[in-house]
Amino acid sequence: MLPERVKANIEGDIAENQSQVAVVVLLALSLINCFSCLKLGETCGSENKCNGGLICATCPENGNTRSRCVRTQPIIPTSKVKGLAFNKYSWLTTHNSYAQSDVKSETGSIIITTTTQEDTVAQQLKNGVRGLMLDLYEFENDIWLCHSFGGKCYQYTSFKRAITVLKDIRSFLEANPSEIVTIFIEDYVSAPQGISKLFDNAGLSKYLFPLSKMPKNGEDWPTVDHMVQQNQRFVVFTSKSSKEQSDGIAHQWKYVVENQYGDDGMINGSCPNRGESPAMNTKSRSLVLMNYFLTNANATAACAHNSAPLVNMLKTCHDAADKRWPNFIAVDFYLRSDGGGAPEAVDIANGHLTCGCDNIAYCKHNAPFGTCDVPPISPPPPAAAPRSPPREKS
Ligand SMILES: *[C@@H]1O[C@H](CO)[C@@H](O)[C@H](O)[C@H]1NC(C)=O
Ligand SMILES: *[C@@H]1O[C@H](CO)[C@@H](O)[C@H](O)[C@H]1NC(C)=O
Repeated sequence: MLPERVKANIEGDIAENQSQVAVVVLLALSLINCFSCLKLGETCGSENKCNGGLICATCPENGNTRSRCVRTQPIIPTSKVKGLAFNKYSWLTTHNSYAQSDVKSETGSIIITTTTQEDTVAQQLKNGVRGLMLDLYEFENDIWLCHSFGGKCYQYTSFKRAITVLKDIRSFLEANPSEIVTIFIEDYVSAPQGISKLFDNAGLSKYLFPLSKMPKNGEDWPTVDHMVQQNQRFVVFTSKSSKEQSDGIAHQWKYVVENQYGDDGMINGSCPNRGESPAMNTKSRSLVLMNYFLTNANATAACAHNSAPLVNMLKTCHDAADKRWPNFIAVDFYLRSDGGGAPEAVDIANGHLTCGCDNIAYCKHNAPFGTCDVPPISPPPPAAAPRSPPREKS
């Protein structure tokens, strides 16, 4: 038996060792799980990191000069409410998804054209983007993603070979067997079967949702579960009507209504259709696409546009579309906002669509439509950082 005092010392040492171990374990856990990290809206900095799915950013454009945690990921709606038709969900969509800032063309050339996103399509898919707008051009004996003009691609307006991004989509579909990806092609490919061959080469044809199964007169789409079971998880629309005949690819505006894009589509309180689309309230089209991005993409301005004005437009377009919430919400610089951003707008649409609540986060499991679990609101810190005190005059 040890004398009581020695025993106490030993136990003290053990306790100290244990607490050191505990600190190390906690540190390791916090690196992995980030449980001490910051929540949405909290002010952040190089010392204080945001939780997963958030980034630390300001939005000086609308007066938010404090760095705070802002969202980069919507709630995957099928993780909350299952079993509904494809057109009863809303999906985050990136405008010109491939037009990434600060990259070189796959040709090696520098790029001189506007860019609209800041991460790769693979990263966008990881963040929960499920709609991609892709401009396809014939270029260098292949099909390329370009942001160009006059239907012609140049080295300095080219980004990547289309197959590069399509293979990323295929990898994502392979790795995520219950996810669905939709692409909207701005189609400058004239070769018949050019695009269907491209899908073959990318290994995407087997995932294609068939044209023959798309509702033609405003009926509901098949359920997401059905599409997953059939493994028909790649939905494609093209801007060229001839592609239904030549490639079996759906002509977008026979299935989708879409509002005006660019500055003319950003007038508060108004949501007119784009020229190629039937009127927003055309019920024979089962899907509703909402664009909300400037004519001249602007990374600085995007955070403000992707915030409260985006949510306002969501409501305006819902009314214009005869009380239908948009199924696709398309923005530039989807990572930028002053808080909830485009992911929040998608959650709001999904709340209304899937469970009759103002946000899908409020849906109650297995509860009747309209039963909502609204959390108490904790106000975020003020948007503007305190101004540094005026310098004393000497
Ligand atoms: C836009 O319209 C909404 C109502 O639809 C209103 O609440 C909001 O203040 C308006 N915003 C601007 C900038 O006029
Ligand atoms: C981008 O937006 C900012 C803020 O509104 C503005 O100052 C700037 O002139 C815009 N840039 C372009 C190229 O339009």
